[in-house]
Amino acid sequence: MNAPIFIRNASQLVTLQGSSAAPLVKEEMSELGIIKNGSVWIENGLVQAIGTDEEMVKKYADRLGEADVVDASGKLVTPGLVDPHTHLVFAGSRENEFNMRLQGATYMEIMNSGGGIYATTNRTQSATHEELFQESYQRLNQFLRHGVTTVEAKSGYGMEWETERKQLEVARELNEKHVIDVVSTFMGAHAVPKEYKSNPDEFVGKLINEMIPKVAELELAEFNDVFCEHGVFTPEQSKQILEAGRRYGLIPKIHADEIEPYEGAELAAEVGAISADHLLKASEKGMKAMAEKGVVAVLLPGTAYFLMAESANGRKMVDLGVPVALSTDCNPGSSPTVSLPFIMNLGCLKMGLTPAEVLVAATINAAHAINRGGEIGSLEVGKKGDVTIFNVDNYMKLQYSYGVNHTDTVVKNGKVVVRGGQLIEEFSLS
Ligand code: NIG
Ligand code: FE
Repeated sequence: MNAPIFIRNASQLVTLQGSSAAPLVKEEMSELGIIKNGSVWIENGLVQAIGTDEEMVKKYADRLGEADVVDASGKLVTPGLVDPHTHLVFAGSRENEFNMRLQGATYMEIMNSGGGIYATTNRTQSATHEELFQESYQRLNQFLRHGVTTVEAKSGYGMEWETERKQLEVARELNEKHVIDVVSTFMGAHAVPKEYKSNPDEFVGKLINEMIPKVAELELAEFNDVFCEHGVFTPEQSKQILEAGRRYGLIPKIHADEIEPYEGAELAAEVGAISADHLLKASEKGMKAMAEKGVVAVLLPGTAYFLMAESANGRKMVDLGVPVALSTDCNPGSSPTVSLPFIMNLGCLKMGLTPAEVLVAATINAAHAINRGGEIGSLEVGKKGDVTIFNVDNYMKLQYSYGVNHTDTVVKNGKVVVRGGQLIEEFSLS
């Protein structure tokens, strides 16, 4: 059994208390539940008590000697960051396409000429399980260094069963072996394979009748995602795929209105998706439908930045009552980053969100987007001992002083895994 961890005397301790039941909306997204000079006692992997340092020292007076004390004075303490949308498991990189885009080629042109998702699919198909595991493990280490303690991971670089299965099995092994919690999503519907281009419905049939039942049988994923986009999957096909997943217990998610408006937000509300992601081109009608149904908008301003597109209208979504979360979209084509704090900065500068709103979006609302609002995303008694300590003395400075990794200490499941910005050695090895 590990020693208890006593994080003491934070300049600001962001608790987000009272947010476990439902994602925060509108003005609630500005209520951080800050405790000044705050301390947290973590034991058996869970938050046991939280309060001012004075209160906590009194409460634990008899046991102070037992604890691993982490001095957080002058620092910001938040719930461990949660990334609810990544394509974590992939092989290779695509800097050649980055260069092509800088010279005028578009993301969809590159994809339609056999690059893009197809290029990464080829690399991922030929990589071994072990190679994919090693590459993705290193990415998880980078996530941890940026203060992220839970990561959602999608398949989708397979386009046939064996590779989809390999990706999901790698994600499962990462969840078991890496300290970060990895939450799996099946995204067989990421692109239409070339051999099905003349008859995409045949591929949709394969997804529905063959792959989804196998994912469910082998318990390889919790969620089912689809790239609903002009030239990829139509709203009608997307609906069939998401409803089929639902019949097998997979919760729907959707890549919606990313490149062109396609009524993806409306579809997310109609099928009762837990989240609709991207939404750069979402209609107001779609946003309102999402607000009504409580569908979380997972916004990815790093993708807009990297594709040189206008970001989603996060400000409008918050004002309309859509619960907003933020994510890196970490993938080799449209957002090769693990820096959720940088994404939060883009949330402020490119989407008009406040520093308080982006912190909610990258913690508790992100947790709700992956059905984990009851376990992570806020610091409350009984929740996981997942905590990030930043080397700034207030939450606004985290966004203001941008492009710098302020992560100082990370506690995951009640264990210190990053200290002084460095991974503890035992977690850095695979
Ligand atoms: O979320 N839009 C589709 N999928 C990813 C990009 C994947 C890639 O380019 O490899 C996204 O942007
Ligand atoms: Fe994505």
